Order: sequence, then structure tokens, then C-alpha cells
Amino acid sequence: MMNSILKVTNLVKRYNGGTLALKDINLEVKKGEFIAVIGPSGAGKSTLLRSINRLIEPTEGSIEFLDQRIEKANKSELRKIRSKMGMIFQHYNLIYRSSVLENVLHGRLGYMGSVAGVFNRYKEEDKQEAIMLLEKVGLEAEIYKRADELSGGQKQRVGVCRALAQNPELILADEPIASLDPKSSAVVMDAIYKNCKEQGIACLVNLHQVDVAKRYATRIVAVKAGTIVFDGQASELTEEMIEYLYEGKEQEMYESAN
Ligand SMILES: Nc1ncnc2c1ncn2[C@@H]1O[C@H](COP(=O)(O)OP(=O)(O)O)[C@@H](O)[C@H]1O
Ligand SMILES: [Mg+2]
Repeated sequence: MMNSILKVTNLVKRYNGGTLALKDINLEVKKGEFIAVIGPSGAGKSTLLRSINRLIEPTEGSIEFLDQRIEKANKSELRKIRSKMGMIFQHYNLIYRSSVLENVLHGRLGYMGSVAGVFNRYKEEDKQEAIMLLEKVGLEAEIYKRADELSGGQKQRVGVCRALAQNPELILADEPIASLDPKSSAVVMDAIYKNCKEQGIACLVNLHQVDVAKRYATRIVAVKAGTIVFDGQASELTEEMIEYLYEGKEQEMYESAN
């Protein structure tokens, strides 16, 4: 696993209802790599991301992360593994009655003992770090507001800071801009991209829009019907491939998913 932080081998996911969502996925991610995962809705993008941190249980295959086997990890091993993987969700998944700062500090929970965690006893340096992250994404005036007072774009910037507060090796972002307007989308994507690049964090970001994927990612992975049909440089992604990928679902490339 030279230089590689994640290696997914022969991953299969069959849901209980019988849907074969991932057929035979092989994917290796190097340290600091920024990868966009594209494909029409129902292709298996979310299933892939959620299998990596085991929010859903893979059916077959192996997932190595920093030389640990995720699919074999027990509860406490999984907790440790997940502390090195930040997740950003389409619908933010914030705790809305808590402050912006507390939401970001939740990213530190994986590093705390369970007693300190239950009582939210964060270290002063964690607080300073969280505030710094919030300032960096332009939320310095929102730090002590309740999360439900924020706009969608601001909520997602909090989601980005929470993931970064974990000090992750890998960020998994599942359609992070699908609920946002174009202006907020750009702010959020810039925040994810800049911070990942600065800190050498690898990122797998599911995106609906091919143009956004091409703008940010050097490497693009395209998924269709549970299979990776393209894995290469953004510049190598041809119009023919895009057409094949979205066959019959062309309108999706331009609309945001909801
Ligand atoms: N919890 C679930 N139970 C059963 N089938 C599911 C579940 N989640 C997703 N699927 C199915 O798995 C396939 C892939 O879905 P998903 O990973 O959400 O695709 P994408 O994120 O690319 O839109 C789809 O056919 C979807 O209907
Ligand atoms: Mg999805």
C-alpha cells in the first residue's frame, strides 16, 4: 500500500431487498488525492462512500484503510478508524439546537474518552482549532449562533469544519452541494478543496454535476449501475463517456439532485 491510504478490493453490496448496488468495485486512493465520483442517480455512489466507513455493511470484498481492514473491524476498532475519516452529508446532519462551535467540536468526539465526550468537556486547544476553522470558511460571526439559524450554505460550511476538526486522512463527501444554490455551492466546494489540499487530506466527493467534478478533481471515478466505468484524469473524460454514463438521464447532469 505504498503511498496509498485506501484500497477497496472486489467490493460488492447487495441490499436486503435484493438490489445489487455495487458489483465489483476496485479503487485505490493515494494520500491527499482529490477524487470526484460521478454517475447518474441510483448508480451506487452513496453506497460506495457509505461502505467505506461502514455506515452500511459491505456484502463482499475488502476495504483497507491505513493498513487496517475496515470490513473486519470490531466496534472499537471501527471507532478509531472513523476518527480518521470525516464525512460530509448532503443534508448537513448538524445538531440544530447546538451552537455552530459545538457542532464543529463534535468532530473531536472520536478522540475523547467516553466520559469527557458525554459531558462535552472539550480541550481549550480543540476549541481554538474549531474557531480557527470556522474563521477560515468565513463563519467568524456565526460561532455562537444555533445551527438552525444558518442558511444552507452556512450549515454546510459547518459540516465541512466538523469533518476537518477530526484531523482526518480521508474525507467522504456525499453530494455536499446538491441542496445548495450555485453561489453557496462554489463557496462550499472551495472550502473542501482548499483545506484538503493544504492539509494533504484525501477526498472522495460524490457529485451530480460533471462540470463541478471537472473543475475541482484531477481524478474522476465514474460509476454506472454499480460498476466503475471510468477511472482517470479529468482531462481524459470524453463527451462519449459522459453520454454513455448518463444515457437516458442526460437532464441529471445539469440539475441538482434532491
Ligand atoms: N437502503 C437501501 N435498501 C435497498 N436498496 C437501496 C438502499 N439504498 C440504496 N439502494 C439502491 O441501491 C442502488 C444504488 O443507490 P445509491 O447508492 O443511493 O446510488 P446514488 O448515490 O448513485 O444515487 C439504487 O438502486 C438504490 O435504489
Ligand atoms: Mg447518492
